Amino acid sequence: MVSQESLYSLPIESLTKEQAAIELERLSKILAHHDYLYFQLAKPEIDDETYDALANRNRMIEKRFPELRRADSPSLRIGASPALEFKKVRHRRPMLSLDNAFSEKDVEDFHVRICKFLNLPSNTEIPMLAEPKIDGLSASLHYQKGEFTLGATRGDGSVGEDITTNLKTIRNIPMRLTGENIPENLEIRGEVYLQRDDFIRLNEIRVSNNEEPFANPRNAAAGSLRQLDSKVTAKRPLRFFAYYYEALSGTNDSTQQQILETLKQWGFSVNPDVQLCNHQNELASYYNRMVNLRAQLPYEIDGVVYKVNDLSFQERLGSIGRTPRHSLAHKFTAEQAETVLENIIIQVGRTGVLTPVAILKPVSVGGVIVSRASLHNDDEIARKDARIGDHVIVQRAGDVIPQIVKVVLEKRFPHSVPFHFPTECPVCGSEVIHTPGEVAKRCSGGFVCSAQAIEKLKHFVSRDAFDIEGLGDKSLQGFYQDEFIASPADIFTLEKRSDQLHNREGWGAQSVSKLFEAINKKRAISFDRFIYALGIPQIGQVTARALARHYITYENWYQHIFIAKDIASESYQELLAVDGVGSGIAKDLILFFENENNLKILEQLTQNVVINPWHEEEKGNSQISGKTIVFTGTLSSMSRPEAKARSERLGAKVTSTITQKTDYLVAGADAGSKIKQAASIGTKVLSEQEWLDLIQ
Ligand code: IVH
Repeated sequence: MVSQESLYSLPIESLTKEQAAIELERLSKILAHHDYLYFQLAKPEIDDETYDALANRNRMIEKRFPELRRADSPSLRIGASPALEFKKVRHRRPMLSLDNAFSEKDVEDFHVRICKFLNLPSNTEIPMLAEPKIDGLSASLHYQKGEFTLGATRGDGSVGEDITTNLKTIRNIPMRLTGENIPENLEIRGEVYLQRDDFIRLNEIRVSNNEEPFANPRNAAAGSLRQLDSKVTAKRPLRFFAYYYEALSGTNDSTQQQILETLKQWGFSVNPDVQLCNHQNELASYYNRMVNLRAQLPYEIDGVVYKVNDLSFQERLGSIGRTPRHSLAHKFTAEQAETVLENIIIQVGRTGVLTPVAILKPVSVGGVIVSRASLHNDDEIARKDARIGDHVIVQRAGDVIPQIVKVVLEKRFPHSVPFHFPTECPVCGSEVIHTPGEVAKRCSGGFVCSAQAIEKLKHFVSRDAFDIEGLGDKSLQGFYQDEFIASPADIFTLEKRSDQLHNREGWGAQSVSKLFEAINKKRAISFDRFIYALGIPQIGQVTARALARHYITYENWYQHIFIAKDIASESYQELLAVDGVGSGIAKDLILFFENENNLKILEQLTQNVVINPWHEEEKGNSQISGKTIVFTGTLSSMSRPEAKARSERLGAKVTSTITQKTDYLVAGADAGSKIKQAASIGTKVLSEQEWLDLIQ
């Protein structure tokens, strides 16, 4: 990849207005070209950082000369100020919908209908273009003199909504058309969609931010497109396939196939899996090919579309009601089925999260037997008003977990009652809690709850916690099952009960004494590790360390958190002042201390282990103590999170951007522009090896 940075390095402050205008035009063309290489050809020629640097330069020039911002400015890709509402747009020609076919017979009838209408013998071959039917949302884009001026949703087909700023954030929608014969007034129609992998990633981010995940890519695309704040849309990796254009004059395409070629030439993405079927019997083989290809495509399709290829035929055929006579959607057999919701059970996960699961009367959905479906959480059950005994429609989309689409209300049993989400954990009976801002409800039982206990015990003895080597997952599981170890303190009293152990299979005298040696070695622990070992929700190593640093001793911490239960107390304010502790974490911490069983565990633990007060010495000696470090590029010896954690353990601060305060930039392989940036402000750059030497 070539770095083009050096070409555009005139300082922005010294640009005249004329130069700025020329530069903005140049940047918009260059960035559009790189968008094209990236999205249409999947052959980028510059790296992300160079791209970002160009986009940033464009933004900075616009900041200095706001009046020069172009209608096709690349900065529009990141969204504009939020709108209050969407303006209505009347479509020049209605946006129709397609007639659906569900069988080969329906497709035959379609052919016969066309022949009849055109007054041709019913066995006439009518060449058709077959295209995948993308499961997204249709959009209409207007271009005037090659420039993207207006974009709208389908709406009710006659009137849609103006979503221009949102559509401008979609990177493979050209702001300005390329190629030849561009009509002055042009309307493009196509489908906005999300790729499966982008959808999964988007949902992962949402879940980690405690937001409700989207049900499927189509919903996610719809939600993203109908954002009043286009900056939100810009963060959603939407894409666009163009499938049609309409021009008042100026083109001479005469087939649907040529239309797609022209669209491509103007800079649009066009679906690569289209096929011209000259003979009627090729439609069925195309359909079957797509059925088989479906699961492997990077996006979801819900059928195929057959379009009479000849545009003059299309014109003659016209439309009937809201559907054109020249096209047909051949839908894939609906992967939906009706069945009975026999029960709703609540599963308790390793972290205590309660997940409702629908138990269904087994039914075949698209060839797969389904007997369970996800219900996500209690809000979802309430929204669908799903009740035990209801008839429900289940759906299986690709390899996603089956979902309940809706309840068949007409078949509802008259005495059915709404489902009540339990207030007690079905596994251990502890209270179910709901931390404000969290979607899920959780069991407060902690170690008492067998659904969570083993995981919590594993965490307790893990490397960054008590680090007890001889207690592997398997032995821990066995000890738990046989009730030798039910809670963490039991680990430290095991030796007293060792006579029971000697009879166990696989535990000879030597291995038993080795285990006790390993346990006894860990009867003293640093305060921060102790907090971390407790496995309190949301309290990872970083927060545990911040708490330990703040409260210094276990006893001091214990007393303060006890008082902090009263949120009017000074102790509560003090807790919130700890680095990284917000009201959510504070709440989880206090909840932990409100649980009688946890208090019992703490008491037993303190009788059996020594918790050393926090001290900074370990860090003071390190070479990087007190330094600010930035990592860039790929490290070969460890992941970046690990590098960060290690540096912090040695007393350094790790940030993501270079400032005057940065002491070291550690550059791994393929480090980008940060090296130059570091050099320009005199920050010391270390290779991975130099850094490793430093922390040895
Ligand atoms: S042609 C008459 N081609 O399916 C409408 N539509 O129910 C002409 N769709 O609203 C549409 N992929 O959102 C056409 N290759 C494709 C399509 C496609 C998806 C959607 C579109 C339309 C709906 C028709």
